[in-house]
Formats: sequence, C-alpha cells, structure tokens
Amino acid sequence: MQSFTVQPAKAVRGEIAVPGDKSISHRSIMLGSIARGTTTVRGFLRGEDNYSTLNAFRAMGVDVADDGETLRIGGKGLHGLAEPFDILDCGNSGTSMRLMTGLLAGQNFFSILTGDQYLRKRPMKRVLEPLSRMGATIYGRSGGDRAPLAIVGRELSGIDYASPVASAQVKSALMLAGLYASGTTTITEPHLSRDHSERMLRYFGGDIETFAGGVRVSGGRELEGRDIVVPGDISSAAFFMVAALIVPGSELLIRGVGINPTRTGILDILTAMGGSIDLVDCREVSGEPVADLLVRSSRLRGIEIGGDLVPRAIDEFPVLCVAAALAEGRTVVREARELRVKETDRIAAMAANLRKAGVAVTETEDGMEIEGGERLQGGTFESRGDHRIAMSMLVGGLAADRDVTVDDVECIATSFPNFMNLLAGVAVR
Ligand code: S3P
Repeated sequence: MQSFTVQPAKAVRGEIAVPGDKSISHRSIMLGSIARGTTTVRGFLRGEDNYSTLNAFRAMGVDVADDGETLRIGGKGLHGLAEPFDILDCGNSGTSMRLMTGLLAGQNFFSILTGDQYLRKRPMKRVLEPLSRMGATIYGRSGGDRAPLAIVGRELSGIDYASPVASAQVKSALMLAGLYASGTTTITEPHLSRDHSERMLRYFGGDIETFAGGVRVSGGRELEGRDIVVPGDISSAAFFMVAALIVPGSELLIRGVGINPTRTGILDILTAMGGSIDLVDCREVSGEPVADLLVRSSRLRGIEIGGDLVPRAIDEFPVLCVAAALAEGRTVVREARELRVKETDRIAAMAANLRKAGVAVTETEDGMEIEGGERLQGGTFESRGDHRIAMSMLVGGLAADRDVTVDDVECIATSFPNFMNLLAGVAVR
C-alpha cells in the first residue's frame, strides 16, 4: 500500500490545466463504438476508470488507435459489437459498469461484468430493476443488486421511468438501452443530473428529446461518428480551486475547465461561501461550455447545502468538506444520502478523517454538519480506496499545522493520474 505526504504550503500559485472530463471520456468511447464511421477523441482522460471502458469495447471487437494524443475509434454501428471472449472488468468504475449494463442488455450476445472489491459492493438494482422492465435479463449477486452481473442480451421495449434518484448513471444506462429498444424510452428524475449523455447523443445524431425534468430517446436510429474534444474535468479542478481558496496569498489559473451547468454546483457553493472564482474566456467545445477559472485565496464562511446543488456537485463533497472545515462557522450538508454509496461511504469517510484532523463533525443520515476552524491538524489519514477522499485530504494538508500523510493513494490513478505532480508544481514552500 502506497502512501503520500504533503507539507503545509505558504501559497498556491501558477497556471495549470487539469486532465479531461471522466464522464465525457467514458461516453466518447461508448457512443464512438456504436456509431458508424470514425470518432476521434482529443483530451481523453487517461485514468484507470476510462481504460476499463476502453478495454471493454476493444474486447467487443472495436478498433481503437491511440497516437498518445488522439484516439481514433472505428465505430461498428448500432449492431456491430461482438460477444466478448471473457469477463469484462470495470475495475473501480461505477460509470463503466452501470452504463455498459444498459448498453449490453440490448445486444444479441451474452456478457459478464465485474469490478474491484469496492465496485462489487455498490448497488446495481437501481439499473437492473428498470432495465428488467424493458425486458432485460440480467443476473447478479445479492438478488441482482451486486456485481458480477451476467447479461443475457435480448430485444427490449421502451418504458416511461420516473427515477427515484437523480443519477446520471441510471439515466444514461436507460438511454443506452433505449437506443436498442422498440418505441421510446422516457426517463424523469427528481433533480437534473449531469446531462453529458444527452448532449453527446444529440451531437452524434441520435433521436433524442429533452424536456423539463427528463429525456426521451427513440430506438433504432444509427449514430454517426464525430470529432470530440474533451474539456478539463471540473471535478478534478475542484481540488485545486479549494487548495487556492484555503491557503492565504494564493492565486491560481485553471485552464480549459468544463462548466456544463449540471456540473457547476461547486462554483455556486464556493462562491456562496465567499470564494473568489472568476470565469475567464467562456467558450463552447464539442457541445460543452468551457472556461478558464481564476481562483484567489478567500476567507470562507459556512453555508447550508441541499436540494439541486447536491447532484450538481455530487463528486465534490469530499473536498467541499475540507473547505468547510477551514471556513468560519458551520456548514450543513443535507439531502446527500447518495454520498453513502459512492466509491466508499463518503460521509463516514470524511467525518472520520476530519475528526482526526481536530474538526468537530456531526454525521447525519443524509449529510453532515461541520464546524469550521483556523487550521487542520496534520497526521495520517485513510483513503478507504477512494480517489476523491485521498485527494481531498492531501489538499487539506496544504493548510494543516504539520504534514499530512494519506495511506493507500494508488486509487488516485482511477481519475487523476498526474494529481501529485500538479500539486507539487503549484504549492509554494
Ligand atoms: C457519473 C455520475 C455520478 C457521479 C460519477 C460519474 C456519470 O454518479 O458521481 O462520478 O458519469 O454518469 P451517479 O449517477 O451515481 O450520481
């Protein structure tokens, strides 16, 4: 088990670009593979999670050439994937597993998906249940709630589904199944989750319609290969935003960050906390809005977070907890029960780590309350195998009274392979 240590910083300064968006990178492989013709992808995130998706489609006969900068995907058309010769391994990636389950349910072949020890503990019924209503035959452990999943591809029919959770993985799994289903598939959700699937499917010429609260997809239409430029991942940028905000005397420019409105909850929250973040040079790339973010250290204050801000910042809560721990007053997070079923239980993990760092934290069933203070106490913390917990505590180390060590940091490679180098490059000592 590898550990990593961060020393307190005097400031965070410079200019960086974060790697490509993880969600968009997954979708580029999936849609590129089932489109007709070639799809090129620039800025693909070279994290382990995205390689899980890439390797799975290669195992289903898709040709992907990689010159180190651009991927060239030889699309097979809607019905051109081949039965994989072996089990498809999704590693730590919930997005790979849930989205592929939807896509594979409508193929004319059999497939099995598995994942690492963390992914095999995560709930899958949220996709299996609506997919079975479409006619899918999928088996899993724990009565169909846990991977490995065995998928007997067959003909599907469209359904109307009101999802009880705001989850882009559930929505996207059903949209992908809907491409293969007869009729139309309509999905509504309690709050709008990230809409990258909707945007990319439209960009590929899919038969898709969005409306307030939902999306409708019609089956059978072939998609056309496209050229995609993946913007920087705002979820990765979030670690550096918080780093620059919490260390006095900091100023950091983060270039080329995706600012899709379904993902910018982090900007709204940090700004409401008193953070200085300016959007510079807003532009659009491959159907997604992009900007440079100029972040300056700020005196933060605690706020209340709930409602539609939760899905719009769902992956940023671990690092938001660090910001809250260094803010003036109390931060209350509620309606965030979903955090308990991420790569680990992120409420429990951050509560335990912050308490160890001397912060007063109360866990609630669907969130937490954090009493902010001046500094974190350094020491050794646990990632619990979760990349975002590991990176959040390392960011906290920049504003701690002594070194912060995080155990088990290999997981960072799932989403942000050059995180440590970027952090070392901007931390002034
Ligand atoms: C993702 C959706 C979110 C998010 C995950 C990526 C996606 O998960 O947490 O990191 O790419 O669709 P949920 O759908 O479970 O909220």
